[in-house]
Amino acid sequence: MTERFRPLLAAIGGVVLLALGGCGGSGGDGNGGGGGGGGTTCPPGGTTLTAQNFGTQFFQSYCTRCHSSTLSGAQRNGAPEGLNWDMLDVVRAHADEINEEAGVTDGNVNTSMPPSEPRPPDDERRKLSEWLSCGAP
Ligand code: HEC
Repeated sequence: MTERFRPLLAAIGGVVLLALGGCGGSGGDGNGGGGGGGGTTCPPGGTTLTAQNFGTQFFQSYCTRCHSSTLSGAQRNGAPEGLNWDMLDVVRAHADEINEEAGVTDGNVNTSMPPSEPRPPDDERRKLSEWLSCGAP
């Protein structure tokens, strides 16, 4: 479906944003965004973010009230079976989708997930992308 066109749209959007005046990164995280194919690229120096100091807490704060292996049926609030972000291997396997729903692709902050409050601030979405693009260590 439209899924297929998202990376292309994101890429075009990224180019437009860059042309309009750069990515406006704060510099503190070393996250320049950008990269090709709709994803964020891991910073050249790698990331200091880990599941332990960032990822697990992020998903617990914003996602696992629906996307958890401990929830079933109506408890999931419609979150598809199997998309369980309390499991790191599942997160890694779906890194691109997660990034497109809740991270940053080519400078665009994606806010489709979570669908309700509490939502992460943009800064945390940038960290999510950085962490995922480095393989979710
Ligand atoms: C309130 C419940 C809820 C929360 C919280 C939630 N989701 Fe979802 N998620 C859903 C539902 C419902 C769907 C299926 C419908 C859809 O895709 O919109 C879904 C689908 C998804 C998909 C698959 C999208 C696709 O098109 O295949 C991803 C990836 C995802 N969520 C990531 C996340 C992430 C990351 C978080 C936390 C930042 C999150 N979700 C938080 C309910 C939730």
